[in-house]
Amino acid sequence: MSDSSTNSQTTIYKGNIIFTPTSKEFNILKNGYIVVENGRVKEVLSILPDKYKNQNVIDYGNKLIIPGFSDLHFHAPQYANRGLGMDKELLPWLNQYTFPEEAKYADPNYAKKIYKRVVKEIWKQGTTRIVVFSSLHKESTKILLDYFIQSGLGAYVGKVGMDRNSPDFLIETTELSLSDTEEILKEYGNKSNIVKPIVTPRFVPTCTPESLGGFGELAAKYNVPIQSHISENLGEVEWVKELHPEFEDYASVYNNFKCFGQVPTVMAHCVHNTDKEIDLMAKNGVYAAHCPNANYNLASGIMPVRKFLNKGVNVGLGTDVGAGHKVSIPNVMVAAMQASKIKWLESDKKLDWLTTEEAFYLGTKGSGSFFGNVGSFEEGYEFDALVIDDSSLGDLNITLRERLQRYIYIGDDRNIIERYVAGKKIEEPQLD
Ligand code: GUN
Ligand code: FE
Repeated sequence: MSDSSTNSQTTIYKGNIIFTPTSKEFNILKNGYIVVENGRVKEVLSILPDKYKNQNVIDYGNKLIIPGFSDLHFHAPQYANRGLGMDKELLPWLNQYTFPEEAKYADPNYAKKIYKRVVKEIWKQGTTRIVVFSSLHKESTKILLDYFIQSGLGAYVGKVGMDRNSPDFLIETTELSLSDTEEILKEYGNKSNIVKPIVTPRFVPTCTPESLGGFGELAAKYNVPIQSHISENLGEVEWVKELHPEFEDYASVYNNFKCFGQVPTVMAHCVHNTDKEIDLMAKNGVYAAHCPNANYNLASGIMPVRKFLNKGVNVGLGTDVGAGHKVSIPNVMVAAMQASKIKWLESDKKLDWLTTEEAFYLGTKGSGSFFGNVGSFEEGYEFDALVIDDSSLGDLNITLRERLQRYIYIGDDRNIIERYVAGKKIEEPQLD
């Protein structure tokens, strides 16, 4: 035996395995095996060959084994505001509810109190990887990064940039916005393999051209991704036009400042983008985070997901807590399917709705691909997995596809009995 195989760690998981290598169909193995070596999937098998007979097999019986969920858009400092201000549009909601709540994170003790709950809830809901906005506060952002590192979950966490059009109690100078961001990139860039910083201009209206330019440069210099918002609400789109008549559209503002795919980039919402903007997203490989719960709640509209998929844009799902009211990605899968059915009708049945396979793909491999080989059980993928006990949901003598569909629609965190990230079993985070 070579040294590498002597040292390698192999574990085999047995159960009803379901995943989506493509969005077109489920790959389903009844009583199948996933061979995991050094945290990554080696192979998925229906019958265990002799070469593995001496290996440790963890048998989950009749339970489902599925990839962990990935959430591409989440605001940690809005967690305590879930379900509040839900009768407002975006801009009044930000001013009346969101900014006053985010301002509380100037106090690291408040951040500690709430961020502990946030990370535990993300764990509980089966989200194994997540892209997160914190607030503009440096210390609180570091607290959140430290909690994610302690938890074993995978995350990108960004200190929010806001240096214009923001209230006195929640604004920073351009200089501090960039220097605080850079401090975090330096300090956290190499602290963990799966928890990393991300450059985070809040959105064009709250970021000066100087800060956007600086963010583009920082992301390139430190080779870190970027996240922001685009074209969520019609009032916001008009505002960006007024602020930047020199640019053709919203996407061009980000693109001009190298915040649009020059490094891996995820843009939340994409409800009102033009075809030209969508083409640019496809060309630059910019991810769209579809956040249907938030878009319903703030009466923003419905993203035409099918159009983005047809044009070859990378699409994933976001809970967008706290505009979104739920931390659960399966809940967002359902909202995405429902939204797509309304779009189908509105488009004279031209934009096909999302199938269950597609919605599941978006919340696993679609979102997961932002983190690398994540969200599937193909060879070389990091073993991020959930074990689902759906016996409380009804008859188990139905197909495995039906059992998964039912879990997505009516299951919840109580059905998740184990969580794995990069091959490690993750218990409920004990944070301090
Ligand atoms: N656009 C700018 N900031 C925000 C935010 O916090 N939430 C949402 N949904 N949209 C935004
Ligand atoms: Fe958001």
